[in-house]
Amino acid sequence: MVGAGAVGGYFGGRLVEAGRDLTFLVRSGRAAALAADGLVIRDADGETIVRPRTITADTIDGYYDAVLLSVKAYALEQAIADIGPAVGPETAIVPFLNGMRHLDLLHNAYGPRNVAGGVCLVASKLDADGAVRLIAPGASLRYGELDGSSTDRIAALDAELSGAGFDARTSTTIELDMWEKWVLLAAGGALNTLLRGTVGEIVAAPGGSDVASGIVAETIAVAAASGFEPRPEAAARVQKTLTAADSGFTTSMFRDLLEGNDVEAEQIVGDLVRRADRFGVPVPLLRLANTGLVVYRERLGVV
Ligand SMILES: NC(=O)c1ccc[n+]([C@@H]2O[C@H](COP(=O)([O-])OP(=O)(O)OC[C@H]3O[C@@H](n4cnc5c(N)ncnc54)[C@H](OP(=O)(O)O)[C@@H]3O)[C@@H](O)[C@H]2O)c1
Repeated sequence: MVGAGAVGGYFGGRLVEAGRDLTFLVRSGRAAALAADGLVIRDADGETIVRPRTITADTIDGYYDAVLLSVKAYALEQAIADIGPAVGPETAIVPFLNGMRHLDLLHNAYGPRNVAGGVCLVASKLDADGAVRLIAPGASLRYGELDGSSTDRIAALDAELSGAGFDARTSTTIELDMWEKWVLLAAGGALNTLLRGTVGEIVAAPGGSDVASGIVAETIAVAAASGFEPRPEAAARVQKTLTAADSGFTTSMFRDLLEGNDVEAEQIVGDLVRRADRFGVPVPLLRLANTGLVVYRERLGVV
């Protein structure tokens, strides 16, 4: 598991707890913290502490069967370089980042053979003391070959990930699953950050529902033009989630922005606008949201 943050720490920690053979690739600060305190996971049932095996990029000890990626988009390029010694001819690299841009970067670095698809559904964060906190019940992983085939390596991965206290499943439509999650996050992230509120607050304001529906329509149009039109249930779910009265729904991008943290703007919204331009899809609302996010990141000093 590359990264022991909110996502990697949660799923990796549960796998270690279940006795699976999992190693965290971490950087030196996190390695020291995990050695001192263990990996602490907090959820509604209380606290669990596991003592995982960790390595750093300079101590990778050979090829791994699977490399699960759980770094933020802006840390991806370094992580792609760091995992090199762990990736052999048969290694499956399974990314759990949001968006799709990371697939292109991984393909460029390793070629299509090593790269599988992944989606994670979880709401988790790191507490100030470094513990991983599940902030809403439920956690699941989906994974599969990008061409939809059933392979031994995905079956083997499924055996390792199943039965460890979260929902884990293979998918033969993983690229579409990834797009569907991206559509929700991009539309939700653009909406929350553009209008600076929860879905309930936005739809209660004059014109809020129209902006929400407009952003959803633009996002779905880009996915469709890219060859990954969300299935009707997925499209309906996005529309319902982002226009529900009294909803407290926010995206992690909005929560990060409120806390003054860096946001995955490029991966979540910027990349969608670029794809829209490539296919000639008009996306004025997404473009506005993207501009706002770029300005925010410039002010943070990270662009
Ligand atoms: N959190 C959620 O609820 C959630 C839900 C669904 C999807 N996601 C997606 O999952 C991805 C990860 O998000 P997150 O919330 O887990 O982020 P996070 O809490 O910031 O964790 C990322 C971790 O990656 C580590 N890292 C960065 N570069 C590394 C490298 N080269 N080698 C080893 N470790 C490295 C960081 O370690 P350091 O301590 O060294 O900085 C950090 O602990 C994002 O794409 C996000 O959009 C998140």
